[in-house]
Amino acid sequence: MNDDTQVLVVDDDTGIREGCCRVLRKAGYEVHSAGDGKSADDLFVRNKNFAAAVIDLQLPGMDGIELTRRMHAVDPDCVLLMMTAFASIETAVQAIKQGAYGYISKPFTPDELLLQLTNGLKKRELTLESRSLKKEREKSLLEIAQERSRCSTIIKCMADGVIVANTDRKIVLRNAAASRIFEMYRADHPQEASCTEPGSVPLPCPVSALPCAELIGLIESVFKTEEEPVIISKEVVVGEGTYMVNVSPVTEGDGTKCGVVAVLRDITARKKLETAKSMFVSMVSHEIQSPLAVAEGYLNIILNDTVAADEAQQREMINRSYLRVRALREMVSELMNLSAIDTGNFVIKRSFININEVVRCAVECMHEKAKDGKIDLFFESTNGRGSENGPVVRVFADKNAMFIVLKNIIENAVKYTPTGGSVRIAVEENGLYARIRVRDSGYGIKPDEKCKIFDEFYRSKGKLTAGIPGTGLGLCLVKKLLELQEGSVSVESVYGKGSEFTVCVPIER
Ligand SMILES: Nc1ncnc2c1ncn2[C@@H]1O[C@H](COP(=O)(O)OP(=O)(O)O)[C@@H](O)[C@H]1O
Ligand SMILES: [Mg+2]
Repeated sequence: MNDDTQVLVVDDDTGIREGCCRVLRKAGYEVHSAGDGKSADDLFVRNKNFAAAVIDLQLPGMDGIELTRRMHAVDPDCVLLMMTAFASIETAVQAIKQGAYGYISKPFTPDELLLQLTNGLKKRELTLESRSLKKEREKSLLEIAQERSRCSTIIKCMADGVIVANTDRKIVLRNAAASRIFEMYRADHPQEASCTEPGSVPLPCPVSALPCAELIGLIESVFKTEEEPVIISKEVVVGEGTYMVNVSPVTEGDGTKCGVVAVLRDITARKKLETAKSMFVSMVSHEIQSPLAVAEGYLNIILNDTVAADEAQQREMINRSYLRVRALREMVSELMNLSAIDTGNFVIKRSFININEVVRCAVECMHEKAKDGKIDLFFESTNGRGSENGPVVRVFADKNAMFIVLKNIIENAVKYTPTGGSVRIAVEENGLYARIRVRDSGYGIKPDEKCKIFDEFYRSKGKLTAGIPGTGLGLCLVKKLLELQEGSVSVESVYGKGSEFTVCVPIER
């Protein structure tokens, strides 16, 4: 242990100094020596690697006590061993007070010196070791604290809701996302007095206060299960939202269960999409099935000639089949248009067109339908700059897209107006935009449904319009097509009295 341990010997008595040096070198120490306090002090300050110093108390100039005080101030871990004649033990005690490790009375044997020094160095080694252990412990405590704060930051920032319950069935941790989920629930259900687990309630609060019986049940079942750690995953509904919940036990290092953690992932949007998708599939299937069934029926009659039908009757049946098949094709084309817009494949070719002409075409398309429903379909055009063929209102738009837009809106007006009603179409311009107003005296739209009707697949749930066939795609297509042309569509309506849809498109400048 002593190979590279440096020891300083300080004594003005050359005999003792040399003797000590010899003994210590023999024992394996690297020894330096000084004959007075001042040079010892200089040497000690210059060479900071002394593990021990053997100092005579009576030194010329700076005495041993002062030297000890200074050395102890420079390096408190250096083992300072005093050499003293029996008569000055009191002084030695004084030296110990200044930081010396011990003293040895002159005269002493080499073994006595070595024993004292080895003891001192052992003590020094223990001190240094315990200090480094303390440092290491502090470092790892710091690391643990940092790790904890990192974990808590991650949990806090997670988009998923996290709640942790202890074995007393108390929620002890809840991140911001979880607070939001339960706050939202409370906002949706202010009347529920039992809902005491909003995000702002101070923790810990009981698990039983969670506003979701299913979630409470899941947490409880993880607490109760005796099996190996399990994760229970289930979709649960909290208020208006749907969440995929993963509940798992929290265990100590020895495997004892000390709590349960539940992670709530918001899948409301995905659920909505899935519902919309399956609604779409069932609606489309239904919409496709009924015209096909009609056409199939007629064709079957004609082919099998089961009822002796004359030529005129057969023609009528073929005509009806044709109309149903045509409607079917139109619906499919509506679907294809929507999907083309959504995938960015719908090509808009804008040019200057006479919007009156497009309106007229769309109105003509609806004539037959309006006649069937005894609806007065009337188109008036004002503000147009006159021409031989009537007023011209030039707009900058895609003719085909505008036809689809207007046909949809006029078709809706006719479709959602009871027999004997009226549909009025007017075109006007204000210098910037052309406005096409389609006003009907139909069933009207409830105020809370006004913005929803432009959503994909949305169809009014009102009793009056429930039986009328449709896909809920028309207005969505209208809105998207107009957006592509810097246009817009809006609606005013009085439920039970009628509606007015207004389409705006930029005019020629
Ligand atoms: N002129 C209107 N009068 C009353 N309700 C309307 C009118 N136009 C549209 N709606 C409502 O808006 C819904 C969406 O219309 P739309 O997207 O064209 O789908 P569809 O006509 O196939 O149902 C309709 O189902 C209907 O409830
Ligand atoms: Mg429609």
